[in-house]
Amino acid sequence: MVEFMSSIAVIGGGKIGEALIVGLINGGINPKNIHVTNREPERNQYLRDKYAVLTFDDNILAVDGADVVFLCVKPKVVASVVEEISDRIDNNEATTVVSMAAGISIAVVEEGLAAGAPVIRVMPNTPMLVGAGMCAMAVGRFVEAEQLARVKDLLSMVGAVRVVDEHDMDAVTAMSGSAPAYLFLLVEAMIDAGVNLGLTRDAARELSTMTFYGAAKMLLDTSAEPAELRANVSSPGGSTIAAIREFEEAGLRAAVYRATEACARRSKELGAS
Ligand SMILES: NC(=O)c1ccc[n+]([C@@H]2O[C@H](COP(=O)([O-])OP(=O)(O)OC[C@H]3O[C@@H](n4cnc5c(N)ncnc54)[C@H](OP(=O)(O)O)[C@@H]3O)[C@@H](O)[C@H]2O)c1
Repeated sequence: MVEFMSSIAVIGGGKIGEALIVGLINGGINPKNIHVTNREPERNQYLRDKYAVLTFDDNILAVDGADVVFLCVKPKVVASVVEEISDRIDNNEATTVVSMAAGISIAVVEEGLAAGAPVIRVMPNTPMLVGAGMCAMAVGRFVEAEQLARVKDLLSMVGAVRVVDEHDMDAVTAMSGSAPAYLFLLVEAMIDAGVNLGLTRDAARELSTMTFYGAAKMLLDTSAEPAELRANVSSPGGSTIAAIREFEEAGLRAAVYRATEACARRSKELGAS
């Protein structure tokens, strides 16, 4: 078990907050060093019973002595939560504030804190729930190398971590933040297509899901381009290339360009509002 001198605060123990808690505990953090807040007592009770973390209904108490504070509340409440905890954070210069909220800029969080506060903005995704998340981090100007390394280590407990420029965050939302939904849609379509071909729904689900998982693992485990892996399974005049031709004629690639552009555009609009 990894013992930290100080605690880690998770403000907002909802879906993303809980996924983070699970990852931190699986990564060896002592649950007693994880301070979690929610307004609803039932949610706190659930998290306490399930993970033995320390729960609070007071954000100020929860961040006391924390070296990393994760803001896992909805974007619209981030500014008010930052205002609420700012005095306590400002008294502890060692605290890094990590916002997981979509569309909220580093500047918004920095403005709520004393000058020079270290802030990191993260775009997570829901596969964090199974320890296979993708977190893209944009790093504020006051973050020191050691603080960045600490946050990277913590987020690595719930999946992969990559540092990006903040101006790429809308593209990141389109590429990983929202993208699990695209893949669920594809699997959903594959399952229905399998049923259409006479398979049971259960068989179609297992066959398609494991194929997505295996294909993703192949991409992760090799440096080969996806085009090469696809060519390797497309025999001349064969069944696979017949399916690929249908996808191309249906405009799959163009749909991917358009869908990701729409997602990034919407992310930008929501951030601006
Ligand atoms: N879910 C995703 O796929 C995803 C992907 C990328 C980014 N994100 C970002 O992750 C953040 C969290 O999203 P989520 O899906 O986990 O939301 P969620 O499930 O609604 O969780 C938010 C939690 O915050 C608590 N909360 C609300 N106001 C609070 C306050 N003032 N102080 C303390 N706790 C408070 C809520 O509990 P109470 O109501 O009991 O207080 C709830 O447990 C969002 O900013 C979102 O943009 C989510």
